[in-house]
Amino acid sequence: MSKRPKSPERQDPQKAGHDPGAPQGEQRGLGRRDFVKLIGGTSVAVSSGVLSGAAILPVEVEAQTAAGKVFGPGAVPMTLRVNGQPKKLTLEPRVTLLDALRDHLHFTGAKKVCDRGTCGACTVILNGNAVYSCTALAIDAAESGADILTIEGLAPEGQLHPVSAAFVENDAQQCGFCTPGFVMACKAYLDHHPNPTDEQVKTALGGNLCRCGTYVGVRRAVLNAAKHLKGGRA
Ligand code: FES
Ligand code: FES
Repeated sequence: MSKRPKSPERQDPQKAGHDPGAPQGEQRGLGRRDFVKLIGGTSVAVSSGVLSGAAILPVEVEAQTAAGKVFGPGAVPMTLRVNGQPKKLTLEPRVTLLDALRDHLHFTGAKKVCDRGTCGACTVILNGNAVYSCTALAIDAAESGADILTIEGLAPEGQLHPVSAAFVENDAQQCGFCTPGFVMACKAYLDHHPNPTDEQVKTALGGNLCRCGTYVGVRRAVLNAAKHLKGGRA
């Protein structure tokens, strides 16, 4: 049975910092300003889906900033490296990588569906690993100098990448809304596992959901793409 990744834990801001032993009146949630200070002054763990070994799994990604460096709460300048190009932006530190890509840089291939790290529609490749871009902060990607690959970067000359071509050849999409996320997850998986079995592909793609039920076609596409990529990976 394929292992479904559990959702990254989300903390209720009203409960964050709640101390049951504190006197009434001293109880308070973690405010937005406190959160921004945490980002700037400490090592912050950001939940992110990462393709690791088998499936896209939520993991903790450390975002270490210079000691004492505080971001925000207003917009701050940052540079994201997307598809090999530096992109300068001025964004509030709370902006996710997905929103930065879609709303500010107009890379709309990654889709916002669940916006909580459960469906995989927003998958991009960050430093070689598939990640849920809705659960990563743009500021973290910028500060760490991460290499971000989006589906647009797979066809810079308008030529379909072998994984994308395999999706077309194997009828691996219907409405297509989940397809960019699947393609990016498949590419990252094949980069690390060039000779997968059908069962391994099934497990590996457990972090991506398709409402149209194209799973059989997707698995066939991955296996075909693996054959094409052998000896000449794009
Ligand atoms: S996992 Fe990011 S939109 Fe669903
Ligand atoms: S093809 Fe429609 S959601 Fe996957």
